[in-house]
Amino acid sequence: MSGTGNSFKTAVWAGEKLKEHGCAASVIPMEKASLKNNPPSDNNLTGIFTPTHAFTAAWPAIKFAFMMPRVKKAPAIIIATRAGAYYGPLPLPGMEGTACLIIALILLLKGYDIRGFAGMDMPTNWLALHWGMTEKHAQYFYDKTKREISAFMDTVASGRRIFKGIPSWIMGLTFLPVSFAYLIAGRLMLSKVMFADEKCTSCGICAANCPYGAIIMKGEKIKKPYWTFKCESCERCIAYCPEKSIQAAHSYLVIVCWLLFGAVTAAVQQVIIQNPVFNNEFASMIFMLISSLGLFFVCYWALYLITRFKPFAWLFSHTTFTKIFRRYHQSDVTLRDLKNGK
Ligand SMILES: Cc1cc2nc3c(=O)[nH]c(=O)nc-3n(C[C@H](O)[C@H](O)[C@H](O)COP(=O)(O)O)c2cc1C
Ligand code: SF4
Ligand code: SF4
Repeated sequence: MSGTGNSFKTAVWAGEKLKEHGCAASVIPMEKASLKNNPPSDNNLTGIFTPTHAFTAAWPAIKFAFMMPRVKKAPAIIIATRAGAYYGPLPLPGMEGTACLIIALILLLKGYDIRGFAGMDMPTNWLALHWGMTEKHAQYFYDKTKREISAFMDTVASGRRIFKGIPSWIMGLTFLPVSFAYLIAGRLMLSKVMFADEKCTSCGICAANCPYGAIIMKGEKIKKPYWTFKCESCERCIAYCPEKSIQAAHSYLVIVCWLLFGAVTAAVQQVIIQNPVFNNEFASMIFMLISSLGLFFVCYWALYLITRFKPFAWLFSHTTFTKIFRRYHQSDVTLRDLKNGK
């Protein structure tokens, strides 16, 4: 799985290295892979390449691992790409946490022979949060990861095992509540802050290239993208929009959070207190979660409708950080590559 091409490119580098060792290799997007008809075998090395999302593997990669066929000792490796970033002059690594560990455990239970796993730093693609990197800084991470994946694949090709990132697993285990909260609620809420600003030309590229069909082009005369709960926050749409028109609505988020933690929480708590059904912690937590998601859904409709009018789209786009943040996707990876593989 790859939103902005980092995991894809890392898989391509791994494949190139295997070719140097005389093996054939291909990179297949998870959305296209049909392992049921073509199950991995002892003489095929399967590699799962996933971005890190909230200190664990991205949900589509976890789901994919669950759906992989059972095998007898087919070899597998796992690579989680993570957010390398420059802070001033200093390049800092990302943290893959439990990303490799969780996929490895699932595959182990399915009979795979795990030959290795590692986290690899690529430029951060969390465009809604990070101001983006210069080409020079991005190149630093490409060079570093190309070297590291090359050494990793040499080890695997020589028949030895390699497991990297023990401090990161430990950190990942302590961050498990964050990963869990992201998986059940956070990833659904993140999609509900995206909107297309006044520069959107209704070209539909974002909707056509979303790997999960999460964007609907809505509207009679003028069609504008609408983000559904199917979104996995892979950032592909925001990264590849030719007009840089997709924004994360930060000012809108402030209003929603104010509603959520202020007025709505107080109202929901009143309902919980007055209703004996919610007289236990679990029921009240589920009720809070559902009402928060409901609020996000309703507010997002309001944002979508209001930003169809250019002055409002302008207002919201000029009160978001993404208006000034750079856009990032792996420089050699095209939308066609991400769709068809290599
Ligand atoms: C929603 C989201 C959450 C992320 N969480 C993490 C994280 O917890 N740790 C990390 O190192 N990188 C994190 N990242 C950064 C990506 O994992 C990283 O940039 C990755 O290389 C992207 O790969 P891709 O282009 O193949 O999707 C996150 C990115 C997004 C969009
Ligand atoms: S948001 Fe960008 S990619 Fe999507 S329709 Fe508008 S201009 Fe095209
Ligand atoms: S809507 Fe955008 S961020 Fe969400 S899954 Fe689709 S391409 Fe990725």
